[in-house]
Amino acid sequence: MHKEKVNRVVVVGTGAVGCSYAYSLINQGVVEELVLIDVNEAKAEGEAMDLNHGIPFAPSPIQVWSGSYEDCGSADLVVITAGLAQKPGETRLQLVEKNTKIFKEIVNNIMASGFNGIFLVATNPVDILTYVTWKESGLPKERVIGSGTVLDTARLRFALGQYFNVDTRNVHAAIIGEHGDTELPVWSRTMIGMEHIDTILKYKEDIKKESLDDIFIHVRDAAYQIIERKGATYYGIGMSLVRITKAILNNENSILTVSAYLNGEYGQEDVYIGVPAKINRSGIQEVIEIKLNDQEQEQFQRSVSILKETMKPVI
Ligand code: 2OP
Repeated sequence: MHKEKVNRVVVVGTGAVGCSYAYSLINQGVVEELVLIDVNEAKAEGEAMDLNHGIPFAPSPIQVWSGSYEDCGSADLVVITAGLAQKPGETRLQLVEKNTKIFKEIVNNIMASGFNGIFLVATNPVDILTYVTWKESGLPKERVIGSGTVLDTARLRFALGQYFNVDTRNVHAAIIGEHGDTELPVWSRTMIGMEHIDTILKYKEDIKKESLDDIFIHVRDAAYQIIERKGATYYGIGMSLVRITKAILNNENSILTVSAYLNGEYGQEDVYIGVPAKINRSGIQEVIEIKLNDQEQEQFQRSVSILKETMKPVI
């Protein structure tokens, strides 16, 4: 019998992020096969059992099971969410040493399976761990992607949607840089509907630049706020990962602020960092180099420097 090619996604790490991703992936009917892997095998098994019981309500057929690294051999996409998460008050960068160690082992195990697909990395510090994944795997840079500032951009679009009382889908804004404390909003490229934000600021008296600055600070610090209240963040990142997955597997050519390898773009080299990039079946098809104003370029440069500095001891 002719066997159709099916899309297989493997999730490594069945903590709250991995499971929110899996749950959201199933509910959006994105793939035909979903494999869960965790150091705690019983946990992965339990999650697969639980998710399987929801399949009768999913929009399309899917097989879900708890597997092993061997299942990565024929995977189209491996999503890594494993590793330690921030504790209240801890920065993402403070996780670098421990999670790099965990990642080197995971990536080597995956590559030993003969994996030749696309990596999507979500664990923090995500920009650095994406770099580690690229280095360890030996895969082309286009096929190693980090979740970058996709979530931060979503947070900003949500907040601006609330402030302007418009559908978030009509908010065209982006956060770039480190997924962390040095990230920046690209105000110079922000549009609400068809109107540039500078034009709105000029003509609408009730819209204030200070409010926009406050909105950004809230977005930048959102993870701290959530972690303080509920211990972790996972729904937002889970859905962000599904968005990136769809862009890849459906060959969408979507522009998303993922963590991508820079090789001269934005005047930067040898770093993974959040920038707009065109995503399709080949992975990162192109880094989009938008024109930043001087202040944004300077902030971006600072973000790159912090990442490189933090990375030095572990690479
Ligand atoms: C977040 O931004 C903690 O990186 C995670 O939600």
